[in-house]
Amino acid sequence: MSDKRIISAELTPEDKIQENSLRPKNLSEYIGQKKVRDNLSIYIKAAKERGEALDHVLLYGPPGLGKTTLAGIIAEEMGTRLKITSGPAVERPGELAAILSGLSEGDVLFVDEIHRLNRQVEEILYPAMEDYAIDIILGKGATAKSIRLDLPPFTLVGATTRAGLLSAPLRDRFGVVSHLEYYSDEELEIIIKRSAGVLNVSIDDGGAKELAKRSRGTPRLANRFLKRVRDFAQVEFDGIITSDVADHALSSLEVDMNGLDGNDRRILITLIDQFNGGPVGVDSLAASIGEDAGTLEEVYEPYLVQKGFINRTQRGRVAAARAYDSVGRKKPEEIDDRGDG
Ligand SMILES: Nc1ncnc2c1ncn2[C@@H]1O[C@H](COP(=O)(O)OP(=O)(O)OP(=O)(O)O)[C@@H](O)[C@H]1O
Ligand SMILES: [Mg+2]
Repeated sequence: MSDKRIISAELTPEDKIQENSLRPKNLSEYIGQKKVRDNLSIYIKAAKERGEALDHVLLYGPPGLGKTTLAGIIAEEMGTRLKITSGPAVERPGELAAILSGLSEGDVLFVDEIHRLNRQVEEILYPAMEDYAIDIILGKGATAKSIRLDLPPFTLVGATTRAGLLSAPLRDRFGVVSHLEYYSDEELEIIIKRSAGVLNVSIDDGGAKELAKRSRGTPRLANRFLKRVRDFAQVEFDGIITSDVADHALSSLEVDMNGLDGNDRRILITLIDQFNGGPVGVDSLAASIGEDAGTLEEVYEPYLVQKGFINRTQRGRVAAARAYDSVGRKKPEEIDDRGDG
């Protein structure tokens, strides 16, 4: 159920070009995620005072909320180098062993989409994380022997949108596990104004507010919208992004008032049309939209639940009054009595 339209939170090639310039470089520039930030700043300070590598960190949460950004910040704050790879990029154990043995003391190894490491590769990580060592098998069959190679102390930063897919032995080896949450409109406003400064775009308070409200709690979307809306402001208006300009441009881009994207709308429409608004179990709902239940629960649903479109009840998922309004369906009369509208 991926969608390549402007409202998908996935990284596009165009984002990639500018994302680096918009990425905050240190913790004090990183907006929001206060709990994660406060904790990390303590752990980083403590590790630096002891002259040790920072404990391994697992970052999880929906796409575009700042996991890769935080990995860079961790390396920057520790004053060490950042090496980047990803679950699908490492196919064989030997490749990971080579990456690990190339690390220097204190380096941060960032493994994006860590839930996609295959089992044999993952097993290399266990001793690496626990004992800073890798076991290399020489030879085959009965004559094979294993030698242990020491690694310098390093920090693994793993990122995943699907924490539920991580195996228990891997998850347990992270000393710090941080969950990134959707940003508030106020936080997004600050991010938008900061990005506008970096990109040299004029935007007033109303414009920033309107963009923030429609960015789905996601900085990547806020930055992408800022760039697109700037084009409208420049060509069709006098260059300044006001709330009217933002509204006009975002409506032209079919970004809904609540920032819902095509996937969100499909989930709500399915819940309302096929299941009479619920309650329906997450498995049935997921099957109807052609997704697995885990992806629905961990990637798509959190935003809809947080914004009050879907309620999670004991008997299953229920569409709230807002859901009917947002996809243009008529509310059943009893919905207000149900107490979840
Ligand atoms: N806390 C923040 N403050 C300011 N800007 C942020 C923050 N978090 C993210 N951003 C901006 O959002 C963009 C996307 O963030 P990032 O690439 O780190 O997301 P991600 O969680 O790694 O996404 P994915 O799951 O797709 O890999 C960054 O380029 C950055 O400009
Ligand atoms: Mg990323």
